[in-house]
Amino acid sequence: MAQDLPRRKFDALVIGAGGGGLQAALQLARADAHVAVVSKVFPTRSHTVAAQGGINAALANVLPDNWHWHMFDTVKGGDYLGDQDAIEYMCRTAPRLVVELEHAGVPFSRLDNGKIYQRPFGGQSQNFGGEQAARTCAAADRTGHAILHSLYQQNIRAKTHFFDEYFALDLIVDDDGYILGAVVLEIETGKPLIIEAKATLLATGGAGQIYRTNTNAHINTGDGMAMALRAGIPLQDMEFFQFHPTGIAGKGMLITEGARGEGGYLLNKDGERFMERYAPHAKDLASRDVVSRAIYTEVKEGRGCGPDGDHVMLKLDHLGPEVIQKRLPGIRATIQAFLHMDPVNEPIPIYPTAHYTMGGIPTNRHGQVVTPAGQTPEEVVPGLYAAGECACVSVHGANRLGGNSLLDIVVFGRAAGNHIIEQLQTNRYHRPMTGDSIERTMARLQRWDRKGDGISVGEMRNRLKKAMEDYCGVFRTEDLLAEGVQKIVELEGQMDSVRLKDHSRIFNTARIEALELENLMDIAVATMCSAHARRESRGAHSRVDYPERDDEHWLKHTLFFKEGRKLDYKPVRTKPLTVESFPPKARVY
Ligand code: FUM
Repeated sequence: MAQDLPRRKFDALVIGAGGGGLQAALQLARADAHVAVVSKVFPTRSHTVAAQGGINAALANVLPDNWHWHMFDTVKGGDYLGDQDAIEYMCRTAPRLVVELEHAGVPFSRLDNGKIYQRPFGGQSQNFGGEQAARTCAAADRTGHAILHSLYQQNIRAKTHFFDEYFALDLIVDDDGYILGAVVLEIETGKPLIIEAKATLLATGGAGQIYRTNTNAHINTGDGMAMALRAGIPLQDMEFFQFHPTGIAGKGMLITEGARGEGGYLLNKDGERFMERYAPHAKDLASRDVVSRAIYTEVKEGRGCGPDGDHVMLKLDHLGPEVIQKRLPGIRATIQAFLHMDPVNEPIPIYPTAHYTMGGIPTNRHGQVVTPAGQTPEEVVPGLYAAGECACVSVHGANRLGGNSLLDIVVFGRAAGNHIIEQLQTNRYHRPMTGDSIERTMARLQRWDRKGDGISVGEMRNRLKKAMEDYCGVFRTEDLLAEGVQKIVELEGQMDSVRLKDHSRIFNTARIEALELENLMDIAVATMCSAHARRESRGAHSRVDYPERDDEHWLKHTLFFKEGRKLDYKPVRTKPLTVESFPPKARVY
């Protein structure tokens, strides 16, 4: 059957057209590689477009700064689980990359002296934990939009080939474990296509859609991570899922941390600035896990606002209309549209919302996907790279700092692109296709021709999201997680009963939703099982029954394998490239 499918051949295949994918593609296209980008939406609709507050780089345009402080804050922010070689590389490269982005056309906001504007963000400090820093380079509150559009335009100029509105089904794996490209589906026609490549990069973003209330685009269904799982590659540190403190209450849309960076603050029903109790030094700009837990606790202990006491308020009106309009125009528009309120006049209701997948496909700092634990030094999966939110390099450890996500995608998208260019010098030919991985993919696809009675895709998706929200939220316990594992495994077992609605004609989008549901299920299972196993509190993984961080037993990365839902562990890379390590310390803000 595989031999009948249409094929295209490229030097490199990039799956995903967010900032990570486009940055990698740009490196490749500029080096005259024949590069294809597959995107399930038109590229400028990728989720990078929604990143608001900015990108971190120690430019010191507003306050003193240097990349060592940025590195320290990132290691501490990640509760010491981040790999320090990758963190050093990211923080050291950041200033150069922001200037590169500026030259690529990103319209950063400006200071009066013409330099790039930088705002304070959570978890940032001067001098290794001292006063607040201002490290986040911003284009008002639409920084991701500005970066994504500039990278897309540069790719068009460099002649990157785009497959717009194609859905990636599976990696093609040969008998020796080489990745030879991917099978993709043209969404409009429903026709499969084989794309062969000497190197394949997964840059498919995160999986925020496993939760009901989230800041993520509907497309964030963990497709690349699930493709890796199906190819036998484990996912790393999936128990660490970030809840952003300030989502619009009950709806989940993102209100940027930049709102607090500009001077906004949180209030409970008594009008108290409660963050002063939880983080006396950093207050509202403590790291996200700390602020989310504080809001959750205020509500749980009866100090929440509104008739149901189920949220707290974010106060911005004291900033004045000029600052709000100049620095936060996008969130003002969002609040007006979704809440029919104006932050210029009154505080707005907010509550934590699922935001970011810290875990993902394990890679080294060149973006190469690395093999499981137990093999030292780790070996790479030949032909496969991953970058951005779908990857776990791991620079965010157990909790990502705001502004480090846009940085991660451009730094490691670029590193992966550069490494592929090097590999192409020696890897000059496409390998012959062996193995039956394409047949397995086609069989999986065919299963979704089933129509009729059964659980609908939408119903199963709702059950999955509810289970994640009920059992794997901000605070976790043994009982809750054990029940959660049982629940999610039960739902996984019911996947065979899921049917597309029995319309006379099945629209391709319905089939895509079913395929996305399969991916979401794989990610939900990985997240729940990994969370259940980790018996300590670290960063975003907060166990009420194990409230302390336990470095003796748990300073290690989790690996989850789809086959047998097996868990394994591997050491954290605590050694940076050129500087001294930051050893674990108590983490206070
Ligand atoms: O709050 C924000 O603007 C989000 C930024 C981020 O997640 O890095």
